[in-house]
Amino acid sequence: MTPEPEAAIPAVPGLPLLGSAPALARRPHAFLTALPRHGDLTSVRLGPARACFVNHPDLVHRMLVTDADVFLRGRLFEKAKPFLGEGLVLSEGPHHRRQRRMIRQAFRHGRLVSYAATVDEVARRRIAAWPPGRPVDLVGELQRLGFDVASHVLFSADADPRVLETIQHTFPTLLAAIMRRTLAPTDLLEKLPTRSNRAFAAANREVHEALDRVIARQRATGRDTDDLFSALLAARDENTGRPMTDRQLHDEVLSILSAGGETTATALTWSAYFVSRHPPLQARLQREADDVLGDGPPDLDRLARLALTRRVITEAMRLYPPVWLLTRQATADAPLGGHTVPAGTNLFYSPYALQRDERFFDRPHVFDPDRWLPDADERRRRHAYLPFGRGVHGCVGEPLAWIEAITVLATVARRWTLEPVPGRSVRPVFRTNVVPRRLLVTPRPR
Ligand code: HEM
Repeated sequence: MTPEPEAAIPAVPGLPLLGSAPALARRPHAFLTALPRHGDLTSVRLGPARACFVNHPDLVHRMLVTDADVFLRGRLFEKAKPFLGEGLVLSEGPHHRRQRRMIRQAFRHGRLVSYAATVDEVARRRIAAWPPGRPVDLVGELQRLGFDVASHVLFSADADPRVLETIQHTFPTLLAAIMRRTLAPTDLLEKLPTRSNRAFAAANREVHEALDRVIARQRATGRDTDDLFSALLAARDENTGRPMTDRQLHDEVLSILSAGGETTATALTWSAYFVSRHPPLQARLQREADDVLGDGPPDLDRLARLALTRRVITEAMRLYPPVWLLTRQATADAPLGGHTVPAGTNLFYSPYALQRDERFFDRPHVFDPDRWLPDADERRRRHAYLPFGRGVHGCVGEPLAWIEAITVLATVARRWTLEPVPGRSVRPVFRTNVVPRRLLVTPRPR
């Protein structure tokens, strides 16, 4: 008996020539959340090329964890390469495994204690400077705070602020260009001498030169402090006992700044958005901050007891996972969801869509931090919840992200009541991260 022919991967209808590229670029939220109607694995035409979208957490788990050696990084990362080089965010295989083991040494518990103190110091100073009773755009404010925290955790207080500013102001241009290139129907566009391609090249040059200056200066001071850069300098390859070269340090610092700065700020922006729109929840959060922190610092013990604060951030990242779309590429023909994905296929998965899927979350569009109270259903939800990715490339900075997010939200709760500015709607914009265009709130002293 001849075996049954395998069913084709369901194709999503699109426009002639362009396929679904315009829908994905213009209304990504609507496009992505509608995909499961076509199947758990769907074939989507983006201009001349076809890609697969993976729409079920079991299949995503297979791709990121079980068969991670077949599904490598993919298109988003290929487009980031001119910017991020060989850092952990982009590397693969044995080089990646070696670097990841070294970088994890920088996130050990003992190191986290001193990062927490730095986060507290920077957050306290910046949040205390908010203007009482006057509207603040939290998108810009929390991005600056996030970058300030990341650079202080990396370099204590002694990196040249002008150089850090250069790095900070070039990042948005670079990150926006990477997502645009990932979703573009053809690679030709990025080769044209357009204004945005020229801006990308100039920003890229500027950021690398600035970072070389920071690293040379840090190396020259022969430092031994508690910051992350010292931890990277001290890290040793387990097999060879060798430290990182300057090139590796450069790429890893860039990886950390690009992967850690905007993402944590974005998680905080959406958390503050929801808090400002739910006054009873804000009151509960303020009580928790007062009870747990009192006048003391948010050290690791106290942070672990800020349970509601953590649930608020967890739920904000469910509805708005900062990294809303990720890619992989099949390096060999690979079975997935009852189909065979041909070698070379680009695959996409969206934490945004998975985390709003009613198969896994009741009332998925409702903001409800208490859905994360431990109960029998928690396992089902956790499985479909992956704002930090999963598997060999899952977020290495997650412990620091939690320290920063909980500290900042609790510091705000201790000091301010956030009020939305009436008449201002808040619209998400889907760049590398999904961020509100603006988020105006008025901080009132408590
Ligand atoms: C709320 C904040 C954060 C979110 C939502 C987030 C999200 C993610 C996601 C989704 C990935 C996996 C990418 C993939 O599977 O291809 C990732 C990887 C990574 N993240 Fe984060 N991240 C956050 C904060 C941070 C911080 C604070 C740092 C560093 C200080 C960091 C450093 C990294 C690095 C280096 C990787 C690459 C890991 C590897 O490939 O081995 N992230 N992150």
